[in-house]
Amino acid sequence: MKLFLDTANIEEIRTAWSWGAIEGVTTNPSLVAKEGRPFKEIVREICEIVNPGDISAEVVSLDAEGMIREAREVASWHPNIVVKIPMTKEGMKAVRALSQEGIRCNVTLVFTLAQAFLAAKAGAYYISNFVGRVDDISSEGMDAVRDTVNMIKEYGFKSQVLVASVRHPMHVIEALRAGAHACTVPFKVLEQLYQHPLTDIGIQRFLADWEKSGAKIFG
Ligand code: E4P
Repeated sequence: MKLFLDTANIEEIRTAWSWGAIEGVTTNPSLVAKEGRPFKEIVREICEIVNPGDISAEVVSLDAEGMIREAREVASWHPNIVVKIPMTKEGMKAVRALSQEGIRCNVTLVFTLAQAFLAAKAGAYYISNFVGRVDDISSEGMDAVRDTVNMIKEYGFKSQVLVASVRHPMHVIEALRAGAHACTVPFKVLEQLYQHPLTDIGIQRFLADWEKSGAKIFG
């Protein structure tokens, strides 16, 4: 399963990349707005840092014609860009046209198996299945992920299931168990994935024993 960072923050991206943890970055209009810098500048910088890697950048038009125009522009900024298109009828019209001309599309704001089915049919490269926002309204977001992974396998679609709207490490674990192709996580969740109290205790004990023994690596 590919792991992506869900942010437009350059510091977080540089750090995660240095840890060897990520194979891409997903942004959205809200994440870009938080950074207060030009969209193109941010996306191009991310593409330079996380390379090789898939970098998702979203269009904002609501009609297919506008989405296609924006997608062609965004895709021209770097070959690693995947254009995010929302799950609407106009969006799927745009995905059909863009995928036919070789522009990879990440269909975003997918919540159900039905929506994922339509995204796959339109030619989505990634299907961003949001889990946290479903959990937030007292439902089980991971159900649609499991169903979509099965659908992709059963019917031989080429789309990849990208688990998004991740809130905590268990979402990542469940994404792995479901057989998702990719999962995008906020920086905080990435940090949490490394942590275990027994790891910290283990390191302390090893170092205490080493100190007492007077053993050395050099000299
Ligand atoms: C997906 O690519 C989105 O950027 C993201 O995962 C949305 O997450 P949120 O529900 O925490 O805003």
